Amino acid sequence: MAAASDASVRKAFSLLVLPGDGIGVEITQEALRIVEWFERHFPFDFTLRHGLAGGASIDVCGAPLTDDVFAMAEKADAILFGAVGGPKWDHLPRAERPEMGILRLRKGLDLYANLRPAAGFPELAVASSLRPEVLSRVDMIFVRESSAGVYFGEPRGNHRREDGSRYAVDTQAYTEEEIARACRAAFTLARERTKRVCSVDKANVMETGALWRAVATEIARDFPDIELVHMYADNCAMQLLRRPEQFDVIVTDNLFGDILSDEAAALSGSLGLLPSATLGAQTENGLYRGLYEPIHGSAPDIAGKGIANPIASILSFAMCLRFSLGAPMAGDLLERAVRRALANGARTPDIAAAGDRVVSCSQMSDAILESLDALASRA
Ligand code: IPM
Ligand code: MG
Repeated sequence: MAAASDASVRKAFSLLVLPGDGIGVEITQEALRIVEWFERHFPFDFTLRHGLAGGASIDVCGAPLTDDVFAMAEKADAILFGAVGGPKWDHLPRAERPEMGILRLRKGLDLYANLRPAAGFPELAVASSLRPEVLSRVDMIFVRESSAGVYFGEPRGNHRREDGSRYAVDTQAYTEEEIARACRAAFTLARERTKRVCSVDKANVMETGALWRAVATEIARDFPDIELVHMYADNCAMQLLRRPEQFDVIVTDNLFGDILSDEAAALSGSLGLLPSATLGAQTENGLYRGLYEPIHGSAPDIAGKGIANPIASILSFAMCLRFSLGAPMAGDLLERAVRRALANGARTPDIAAAGDRVVSCSQMSDAILESLDALASRA
């Protein structure tokens, strides 16, 4: 099969599977069927380990991510993550909440470049709030800095003054190295795309924003073939809706990246479609240790009903094939299979319009597996 000739395909590969909470469980189960398909058709030898994360881990072990699971993550070549959180754990103090599970992995494994592609699916024009002709031009990728910024800055806390009134503190802090490596990841990525980077900050208001802009400009000098523009985050929020086609690679900090990537995801039709890869430094063989997860959350309102869309999770595995397994052709094949399943009419409720053939979570992966079989037999 063509993809088997990918230069750096490695045979033995350890994958830690952390489904988490809510729909994380069902979508990860479907993604694993795709993993199995690739193991059958490609010379990959996956060792799968499974662990608890988020609320599921709190319920059983009393913490959103145990040291044991963290140690398993440190040893794995890649992590397939579902989603965490839910109302059941909302009362917990911040440091004990399910979300801390994913944040510990990002920080502890030094996974600093959160790649979030957002492209319009022409098959799903009706599901987007954009006009079809605008949607067809949406093709961007966020590089969200994911190991620093206000998510991790100190000091932070909730306090009471002597008069009993409350106040809270978060700290947005960035070192130049943290900014530089995120920018380098963005410029490197831009080389494989249309060679344009938009760096997003609030340099007009924030000290970290001014440093961000200065460092992005310095890094750009090492990438003379790439065009860099700067944009304020509030303007970016508007431009994403007005003229999304102006964006190719967007690099930004942890918090702006969280917010703006959700907005970009909605443009593409549904949060249920978009994957992400969170990468650390390149290893000596040119690949990355990575954490792969949908950008959507655990959607407790639809959890356990079998109606969640597994595409974001499945496309996250496509990113894993590309970045951690060094098998871009296998990644392409999986992406084509998803598009083919959509073109053939498979629609989970989140992307269905009146009159569409609505399928369940597992039927969506059936359709993708069928497409993989069809595409593979043609290769
Ligand atoms: C995301 C999520 C997380 C974040 C939460 C679950 C901590 O919203 O990955 O976008 O804020 O980074
Ligand atoms: Mg988010």
